Order: sequence, then C-alpha cells, then structure tokens
Amino acid sequence: MQIVIMNDAAEVAAYGADIFSTQLQRKAESVLGLATGSTPVALYQELIRRNREGVISFKDATTFNLDEYLGLNGSHPQSYRFFMDEQLFNHIDIDKDNTHVPPGDAKNPMTACQDYEARMAAAGGVDLQLLGIGRNGHIGFNEPSSGLTSRTRVKTLTRETIEDNARFFEEGEYQPHLSITMGIGTILDARKVVLLATGENKADAVRDMVEGPLTASCPASALQLHKDAVVVIDLAAASKL
Ligand code: GLP
Repeated sequence: MQIVIMNDAAEVAAYGADIFSTQLQRKAESVLGLATGSTPVALYQELIRRNREGVISFKDATTFNLDEYLGLNGSHPQSYRFFMDEQLFNHIDIDKDNTHVPPGDAKNPMTACQDYEARMAAAGGVDLQLLGIGRNGHIGFNEPSSGLTSRTRVKTLTRETIEDNARFFEEGEYQPHLSITMGIGTILDARKVVLLATGENKADAVRDMVEGPLTASCPASALQLHKDAVVVIDLAAASKL
C-alpha cells in the first residue's frame, strides 16, 4: 500500500486526477471503477476540465460504479446513477452505454448482482478503481463484517452510514437501508486501486485501514493485500497515522 499525504483536499483531487489521466493516456479503452460520495467530486471536476481541454478522452472508456441504493431508480435525485450523470458523465465525451451502475430498481437483485459481475468480466476487468472510505472503514457499501472475498451482492447499511448519508436526503424523504455493492473481492480484482480520503472525520478509518490488522471490522484494511493500492489523503485525514 502506497500512502501519499498532500496538504489539502484540492491537492488530493489533483493527484487522483493525475492517476486517472495517466491511465487513460496509456490505454484509451480503460475500464474505470468509479465511486460516489462527496470526496470524488473535486476529482471529477478536474477530469471534466482536462477532458474539455483535450488532455484526456473517455470516448473509448468503460466505467463500472461501486454501488447503488436498492429501491431507487436512476432518475431519483439521490440515486448514484443520477449522481454520476450529474457530476461526471453528462460533462465528458463518454458513450453513456458504456457506463454501468448497479440497477437500484432490479426486480431480481440477486440475478442483477451476478449480471453486474459478468458484465465487468466481459469488459476485461477493472483497470483502475477509485474508492472513498466511510467513517467506519467501509468501501463501496461493504460495511464492517463484510467478507473479505465477497462479490457483488445486496448489503444492509449500518445505522452510522445511513446517518452519514442522510445529509443528501430531504427531511422525511424515503432513504434506503439496502444497497447493491461490489464486494471486497470484486474491488481487490481491480489492477490498480486509488483511495481518496480528506478531513479529520476520516482520520480514525484511515489509521485502521493503514496501520490496523487486516480485519473485516475495517473493510478498507483489505487493501493491505492489494499489489497496487495507492491511498491519497490530506494532512487532516493523516493526522492519526
Ligand atoms: C458512501 C459510498 C462510499 C463512499 C462513502 C464516503 O457510503 N457508498 O463509496 O466512500 O459514502 O462518502 P464521502 O466521500 O461523502 O465521505
């Protein structure tokens, strides 16, 4: 695991954007694993800028998102499909048919999970996977106690995660307690992984991921097993290392 400590969130985003740019410049038809949450937004803005300036192109790229709320379809403003369209896909030269987000409105979620894994395999596997981290160490929606070799499946969200993400929902609005998420085993299959974390509220999770034991209690600690994992954090997120 390579740890890169930058001064602030803007530098973290720029460093992450450099990794994505290098990947796309080396291999135009890259398969990118993408993430939601507030952390990747600045990185996506940087990628949009570089795409507009012609520095990088997504024309031949394929994307697979980590996770989606089960019970929300892609037109729901809180769905991760909607988030990705708004924050990235609508602003870059990607073919939308090549963007994949687990279907939150799947009639048969179990089959949909297997289908998602099959689509990833058919695309040749993920070249570069972007991750954020939850305060409890979750990656994607792999909450503490997730199997370290798990595959894409339905997961129940913890109370902490539901509370953390409540800020995105209107008061009284239905907030799902279930998700479809790539498993930890799925994430570890990516050829390269880059995890971004900023802010003091991520410092405990970052410490457990980097210095703690490899344990299902901190799903992100599984990245210790990965041959090419880069953790890019700001000083605040690094403050407990
Ligand atoms: C959600 C997502 C995760 C993300 C996490 C942290 O739970 N499923 O993929 O890493 O939130 O989000 P934020 O970057 O907003 O702190």
